[in-house]
Amino acid sequence: MGVSGCGKSTIARELSKHLKVPFFDADSYHPQENIDKMSDGKPLNDEDRASWLEILSENLGQWEADQGAVLACSALKEKYRETLSKNVEKVHWVYLDGSYELIMNRINQRKGHYMSGRLLESQFQALEIPQYGIHVDIDQSPEEIVDQIMSNMEIKKSEFGVFGLGVMGSSISLNVADKGYELSVYNRAEGGEEHVVDEFLSANSEYKNIHGFTDLKAFISSLSRPRKMLIMIKAGPTVDLVLNQLFPLLEKGDIVIDGGNSHYMNTKKRFELAREFGIEFIGAGISGGEEGARKGPSIMPGGTRESYQHVSQILESIAARDDFGKTCCTYIGPGGSGHFIKMVHNGIEYVEMQLLAEIYALLSKQMNYEEIATLFKDWNDGPAYSYLLDITIRILEKKEGDGYLLDLILDKAGNKGTGSWSSKAAFDLGIPNTMMSSAVFARYISSFKETRVEMALEKGAGKNDSTLKIDLKSLEKAYNFGRLINHQQGFKLMESASKVYGWDLNFSEIARIWSNGCIIKSHLMNELHEEFKTKQDLFQMNTVLEVLNKDEKSVKDILSNALDQRLSMHCLTASYQYWIDMTSSRLSANLIQAQRDFFGAHTYQRIDAPESEYFHTNWL
Ligand code: 6PG
Repeated sequence: MGVSGCGKSTIARELSKHLKVPFFDADSYHPQENIDKMSDGKPLNDEDRASWLEILSENLGQWEADQGAVLACSALKEKYRETLSKNVEKVHWVYLDGSYELIMNRINQRKGHYMSGRLLESQFQALEIPQYGIHVDIDQSPEEIVDQIMSNMEIKKSEFGVFGLGVMGSSISLNVADKGYELSVYNRAEGGEEHVVDEFLSANSEYKNIHGFTDLKAFISSLSRPRKMLIMIKAGPTVDLVLNQLFPLLEKGDIVIDGGNSHYMNTKKRFELAREFGIEFIGAGISGGEEGARKGPSIMPGGTRESYQHVSQILESIAARDDFGKTCCTYIGPGGSGHFIKMVHNGIEYVEMQLLAEIYALLSKQMNYEEIATLFKDWNDGPAYSYLLDITIRILEKKEGDGYLLDLILDKAGNKGTGSWSSKAAFDLGIPNTMMSSAVFARYISSFKETRVEMALEKGAGKNDSTLKIDLKSLEKAYNFGRLINHQQGFKLMESASKVYGWDLNFSEIARIWSNGCIIKSHLMNELHEEFKTKQDLFQMNTVLEVLNKDEKSVKDILSNALDQRLSMHCLTASYQYWIDMTSSRLSANLIQAQRDFFGAHTYQRIDAPESEYFHTNWL
């Protein structure tokens, strides 16, 4: 309410979006004679307004019975307000307060409205400022006014906030809303994202518990304290920009979760920034893609245990469930541990994908896609089940016209960096994760398409004469072998980080939360969950060792066949090489040591002396 020109309609329209109730403008309910009178510059009297107020009052009763509404109405006098509210149980009065000069100035700028500046004086004469309700000074931006109204209204505050409505942010938001939480969502309204919030809200208008914001302060004040919010934006420098903007607006004890694929070292730095502001920061890996985010992802939160307690209920409720019905979200450890293990998850993901790509290439030599899909289905029905195998079957079956879509896809693999981060971390920690590096390099090599095409022409387009007959049982064993080594290398990388950074990671729990919801979910993960309860790595697990020993021959056969066909087998080869090295009591590293000592006097240890002693030889 407020005099004409105070901005009622604009503010009411905005408020209605925030409150997710319809907006009505009392001006549209005036009978024609009132409009004519005002257009003639004559003020309305009580009598003129009587029927108009009665109509509005009846409507208000109906609107309240429906779902509530925001009405923009001058409601200048106390008796008008009594009429307006007689059919409703609960009215929030909001008085928009502005000086005569300010409003006159605004009215003069307003074109095509029947209410001219001449009537303003009579409006001020009629105005009886209410002694109740929310009073807001109109000499501020509409966003600030709405923000102030929202924070003063006795409405339920949201229990959780999601910042960023990209694919993952939108899906997680709906997941949270499905669990019954009052949720605020925010997305900036600039840079081509002007309509993101509006479109999200209208596409999901059935959710009355989602409240959308494009104004950051309003978003923040819509959250109950301590505020809990999940940031779902592209990893990288944008995260720092957002946190620098956000932290000063928050209060001590508020909890901010970065749910993107941030690098664990950046997460470590962000903890320090958060600490300066007294904010509880959580770096959470979230896996499962769009579908996982919507229906139940695997969540890997890292930070202090105390901060996690504040958000555990919400995070655990939106996560996937394991085979025993337990949530696929567990506290991982301090600092950047959550993002570290998400990074390793992605490294394992790269290898699982590459292994399947290698097997597909090999099988394509002797089978069509339908046959390969049938074989994969057979594998997937057994212990080799994995989500990635499952989607590979569906990809193989996908047709476009008479052909297969897969044949039309350019063979240049992209990446967003997490695989290479895993490799770099492994280099830094001194851990041989040869399969992840091979998978990353295989993607890099694929991107050199032009060179490959040129070189292939010179080699006669990669033709070969030998006929291939792959033993399918051997191939299944080789695939399983590669996967076991992949998981061994991935878990060893986490084990090393856990020791170096003092994270005390629980590998059984990590395997458990990766048994569903995430991209690398598989039956193997369930086995590892059990085995890791008593074992530290896969080479300590008898079941794993037996298989690796038994199936080594199959890997060798498959690899020699594949090489015969000039097929690239980056990951399978790396798995076999790793196995050979790890099961060889003597490697050729003695020569490396001799060379190092020869040219640089780097010294060497001897087999006939204690390892603590170092020797140097004058080789010349
Ligand atoms: C997940 C995925 C997800 C993302 C990959 C893709 O767990 O949901 O890992 O995080 O799809 O990071 O990575 P690339 O673009 O590097 O293949």
